[in-house]
Amino acid sequence: MNMLRFENVTKRYQDGTVAVDDLNLEVAEGEIVTLVGPSGCGKTTTMRMVNRLEEPTSGRILFDGQDVAEQDPVKLRRRIGYVIQQVGLFPHRTILDNTATVPVLLGERRATARRRAAELLELVGLDPAVHGDRYPDQLSGGQRQRVGVARALAADPPVLLMDEPFGAVDPVVRERLQNEFLRLQAEVRKTVLFVTHDIEEAVRLGDRMAVYGQGRIEQFDSPAAVLGAPANDYVASFVGSDRGLKRLSVTPVERGDLEQPPVVHLADPMSAAAAGMRDSGARWAVVLDGDDTLHGWVPIPDAGTAAEGPVSAHARRMEAWLPLGASLKKAFSTMLQYDAGWIAVLDPADNDRFLGVLTPAGLHEALRRSIDADANAIERADVELETVTAVG
Ligand SMILES: Nc1ncnc2c1ncn2[C@@H]1O[C@H](COP(=O)(O)OP(=O)(O)O)[C@@H](O)[C@H]1O
Ligand SMILES: [Mg+2]
Repeated sequence: MNMLRFENVTKRYQDGTVAVDDLNLEVAEGEIVTLVGPSGCGKTTTMRMVNRLEEPTSGRILFDGQDVAEQDPVKLRRRIGYVIQQVGLFPHRTILDNTATVPVLLGERRATARRRAAELLELVGLDPAVHGDRYPDQLSGGQRQRVGVARALAADPPVLLMDEPFGAVDPVVRERLQNEFLRLQAEVRKTVLFVTHDIEEAVRLGDRMAVYGQGRIEQFDSPAAVLGAPANDYVASFVGSDRGLKRLSVTPVERGDLEQPPVVHLADPMSAAAAGMRDSGARWAVVLDGDDTLHGWVPIPDAGTAAEGPVSAHARRMEAWLPLGASLKKAFSTMLQYDAGWIAVLDPADNDRFLGVLTPAGLHEALRRSIDADANAIERADVELETVTAVG
């Protein structure tokens, strides 16, 4: 079901500028569509036509099946949360009251609205007990953006429009806000149209992404498809030469990528564990505890040293692990963070059961697999096209 739908939408400003040119786009319920393109390509204009801050010159926009042009703008905007880069918080109102603004305007009791506002602040990662009574100028830029998101959610709108909401904060804070936004979205499941000029952000946040040229969509597809098979030269140059790197963030770790080192348990006798490791030619083994959850690893004892006692007397802790399905990018950054030559991969669907380890070589192979799969898909599509042309 499409929550938002643009049908042949064109916007020509008074001075003749065509900001949006015959746009067709749809956003499914609960989906995040990112709209990415260079400055001036018509992203903001596209957004502002949804909540009727601008009117299309031709074409129409359907919200939940109804033409927005036929709806009262004020009522429409209550059902569409809007977050922009320069969040306009009221400077003389506390963070809690800023967040509760819309519900209070809509006639909700102040106490109820403030209770809900406190929940929302918590949801966006601000402690209401700490930040709720502060004023906007007592918060950092990143914290103010969070308040903006909380406020947009306060009236519980089905649709959120976000126009470069994290554009003004530094890259580290931006990445944190992006992660929190994804966590939040998993809970609230809004339909989101998210504008950015940052391709990384579009790839990371979008279920699908629309790459804009001048007022037109050059490609509308999943991030993996856009990165793997750019539709034309424009998209290829926009997604850039570090496509392989960006693919890291859209390719998941799979079972087939994992290696299987010997596995021993904490309570096993070390001598037996060492013998098993020598037999399989391994220099180390993964150590699990009694519940088969990850404890760490144990090196093979030097030849001639006694392997006394249980494995627990020799084992070392290992904190570097990932859930199956995490991105290769996450795997790579975890390896760097722990300075680890391997990381354990656990099954979140099965009580974090140990599945195997990912090494840098496995990571490289997974990346190759992902790039090759796309190359094959493009060849197949070409063959199909030729077949169709030949038959036609
Ligand atoms: N009110 C306006 N009047 C005339 N031209 C405008 C107006 N708003 C935006 N534009 C022009 O429309 C084009 C698209 O602008 P905009 O939608 O803001 O792009 P983006 O958000 O992608 O940077 C630009 O050329 C911009 O100068
Ligand atoms: Mg803009």
